[in-house]
Amino acid sequence: NFKKPTAVVIFGASGDLAKKEIYPNLFWLYKDSLLPENTIIIGYGRTNLDIKKYLKETIIQKVNLDNDDLKIYDEFIEKNHYITGNYNEEPKFKELDSKINELMVDPNQNIQDCNRVFYLAVPPKVYPNISEMVGKNCRAKEPFLTHLVAEKPFGKDLETSNELSKSISRYFKEEEIFRIDHYLGKEMVQSLIALRFANQIFRRVWNRDSIESVFINFKENFGTKGRAGYFDEYGIIRDVIQNHLLQVLTLIAMEQPLSESADDIRDEKVKVLKSIKAIKLDDVVLGQYAKNENGTPEQQKGYIDDEGVDKDSLTATYAIIILHINNERWDGVPFIISAGKALDETISEVRIQFNQVPANIFKNYCRRNELVIRIQPNEAVYLTMLTKRPGMDFVVEETDLDLTYAEKYKGLYVPKAYERLFMNIIYGSQISFVRSDELTEAWRIFTPVLHEIEEKKIKPIYYQFGSNSIPEAENLIMTKGKYSFERFCRL
Ligand code: BG6
Repeated sequence: NFKKPTAVVIFGASGDLAKKEIYPNLFWLYKDSLLPENTIIIGYGRTNLDIKKYLKETIIQKVNLDNDDLKIYDEFIEKNHYITGNYNEEPKFKELDSKINELMVDPNQNIQDCNRVFYLAVPPKVYPNISEMVGKNCRAKEPFLTHLVAEKPFGKDLETSNELSKSISRYFKEEEIFRIDHYLGKEMVQSLIALRFANQIFRRVWNRDSIESVFINFKENFGTKGRAGYFDEYGIIRDVIQNHLLQVLTLIAMEQPLSESADDIRDEKVKVLKSIKAIKLDDVVLGQYAKNENGTPEQQKGYIDDEGVDKDSLTATYAIIILHINNERWDGVPFIISAGKALDETISEVRIQFNQVPANIFKNYCRRNELVIRIQPNEAVYLTMLTKRPGMDFVVEETDLDLTYAEKYKGLYVPKAYERLFMNIIYGSQISFVRSDELTEAWRIFTPVLHEIEEKKIKPIYYQFGSNSIPEAENLIMTKGKYSFERFCRL
């Protein structure tokens, strides 16, 4: 499909996602000659918009152009078009179809069938309308050329997610739907499969016999930053845990897939999810950030000070959850997922902590090994270990085998998640996208506890903006999570 001409249609073209991610990433791909030669981009939205002016004045601020890029950016602008319309206005969708056909006429005046990518950068409540309109009016003629791209949130719980999937699947086959979880486009998340299955040294120890606990840690040093209108309805569990971090967990825990194909990988991910029981409230600690009077101006505002948040909102901006995978490989190994906004730093990492050495003769230097996969910032894989400190005396000390990408791959460009995902969509590769059964299982695991939190109005623990963590959460990590902080703290 890559050689085929391509029409990218962006619904919600004047919105935030289009501005921050879609247009800039399309430009970067265009600049690197990674888009099919004949690519056109059509924005669609309810607001009247002069798209060329919008690209020239607004989007340009997001793409970091240097002087050499200006000409290329002008060329890119010329590929753009716009249609104003409502999301249930059939004549407008017919107009969209005609516009694509008209732009795809070849030099002999024949209409060429093309890849058609329809990107839903709109709130999920309009997904059903757009799917119906596109499904009825705008599909490509040949099979495998029509792609519908959807962003989270895919519903708020199992029921609403299933309803959404049902309404989309009336008009699109599963292989035509690309559910984005942008974590799957990140370099280090992609490399997990290679790390796990291409290295004999890890294959043998990747199980309950050698691993004490797995800690998936996500922190951000900023708050909801004016996004509270969306966030207050969803909270941190739905925002990043049920999707991004659970996806990371499945890649860490799954069995070896039959092949590298998208469906073989997703089959294994689904099996892991099926082995996880629905979470219990006892295995969860919730937090909400409060103002930090001694902090920076940003930190002096708590979550409830963000516009659109009720003063008595109980929405969690921090959560830690212990999960268990009931299968032969992982029985008894806690998987800790911790995620929080407005903490002391921004980091996403996986920490795999190995068992203590049995009958250790170095009693004073007894530490667990830990394999750390740092997803961001500053991608790295490092293994903490113990060695004899070089010298006359016999001192055992901690050190690490360190693969920091910026050192090892100096100057090499690591593509951004959305760039990679766009390439996959245009190629028609589902490898980094969430299948509907994965989504159903993910919601099955979280829905009961989410409902219980809401019904019982569970109060989050308040933490100051900029905190390192919450004592109650640390307690859970060390007791039920069996994780030892004492072991290492590497900067
Ligand atoms: C988004 C969440 O999906 O992921 C945000 O809605 C979060 O709240 C973001 O900040 C994190 O993504 P990244 O790529 O910055 O780690």
